[in-house]
Amino acid sequence: MYNIAVVGATGMVGRKFLEVLAERKLPVANYYLFASARSAGTTIDFMGKPHVVEELTDTCFDGKDIDIALFSAGGATSLRFAPVAAEKGIVVIDNSAAWRMDPEVPLVVPEVNADAIADYKKKNIIANPNCSTIQAMVALKPLYDAYGIERIVYSTYQAVSGAGMRGFEDLKGGICGEEPQKFPYPIFANCLPHIDVFLENGYTKEEQKMIDETKKILNDQTLRVTATTVRVPVFYGHSESINVELKKPFELEDVRQKLAAQPGLVVQDDPANLVYPMPITAENRDEVFVGRIRRDFSVENGMNLWVVADNIRKGAATNAVQIAEALIQKWESGEIKR
Ligand code: A2P
Repeated sequence: MYNIAVVGATGMVGRKFLEVLAERKLPVANYYLFASARSAGTTIDFMGKPHVVEELTDTCFDGKDIDIALFSAGGATSLRFAPVAAEKGIVVIDNSAAWRMDPEVPLVVPEVNADAIADYKKKNIIANPNCSTIQAMVALKPLYDAYGIERIVYSTYQAVSGAGMRGFEDLKGGICGEEPQKFPYPIFANCLPHIDVFLENGYTKEEQKMIDETKKILNDQTLRVTATTVRVPVFYGHSESINVELKKPFELEDVRQKLAAQPGLVVQDDPANLVYPMPITAENRDEVFVGRIRRDFSVENGMNLWVVADNIRKGAATNAVQIAEALIQKWESGEIKR
C-alpha cells in the first residue's frame, strides 16, 4: 500500500485528482491533502471520510511516509515545492509547466510513452504534459508510428476550466453580465486568441508548449510543428483541429483502423449520421475522441482530424493518475527498482 499527497487539492484539477483517485482504486493507505494557507484547516470529504487540508510548507511532508505527490498548484508553487518533496524521496507527478522541458524530467502520456517513466530518478519528478498536447498525442501516436509525421498544424478551441476556478467563474459570471476577473476581455460570446503569456517570437506560451512538448514526447526534434491556441466559451472540453502531413502515403480506411486500435482513443466519425466529437459528449470521460477524419487535398499525404477530450480529466487529472498507476505497476513488477 502507498501513501499519496495531493498538492492544490482545493483547485479545479486538484478536486478532479481526488475524484479520479477514488474511481480508479489505487492501492493507497493514506491520502494527504495540501493547498495554500488560505484553505489550510478546511476539510474535504474523500473516500468516505473527512480529510483536513494542510498548508504546503517546507516541512509539511515530514513524518508521513509519502510515496507519490500529485501537484497542481501552479508553476511557481511547483518550482518552489516539487524539489522539497523530491528531496524527501517522494516521486512528484507535476501538472504545471514548470518542469516539462527539463531534460532530466520525463514528460509522459501513458498510452504514448510510458517507457519514459523509468527516467524519473534523476530528479524524482515526472511532468504531466499540457492539456492540449496530451489529447493530440493520443490521436497522433498511431499515425506517427505507422507513417511518420512531417508537419503538424494545431488550432485549438479550449475550455475556460483550463484556466482554473477563476477562468470558470469568468464564463459563469459573464453570462450574467459580470466583468471578467481572470481573462483580459469577456469570454462569454467571445473567443480569445490568447492563452498564457505572449512570447517575444509572437507565439503565446500555450502555443510554444504544444510545439515543444510534441517534439519531446515523440522524441523527435526534426518534427515541424506550429500552433494557434484559442480560449472559447465552453466550460469543459478542449477541441482541436489537427492538420498533419505524413511521411508516407495512406489509405483513410487503414488510418481509421489504426486510430480505432489506439488505447485511450475513441473514433467518432460518421458525418452522415451527424456523429463527431464534441465537448458536451467528451465531458466527464477519460478517453480522447477523434472524428472528421479526412484527406487534406492541398498537400501530399495530408490529413485533417478533429480531436476532443475533457481537459480536466484526460488533459490533467486522469493522465496524472494514470502515470501514478503505471509507476506503481512498474515498481511492483520489478521493472523499476525503488
Ligand atoms: P488555495 O485554494 O488554498 O488557494 P486553481 O487552478 O483551480 O485556481 O487551483 C489552484 C490550486 O493551487 C488551489 O488548490 C490553491 O490553493 C493551490 N495553490 C495556489 N497557490 C498555492 C501556494 N502558494 N501554496 C500551496 N497551494 C497553492
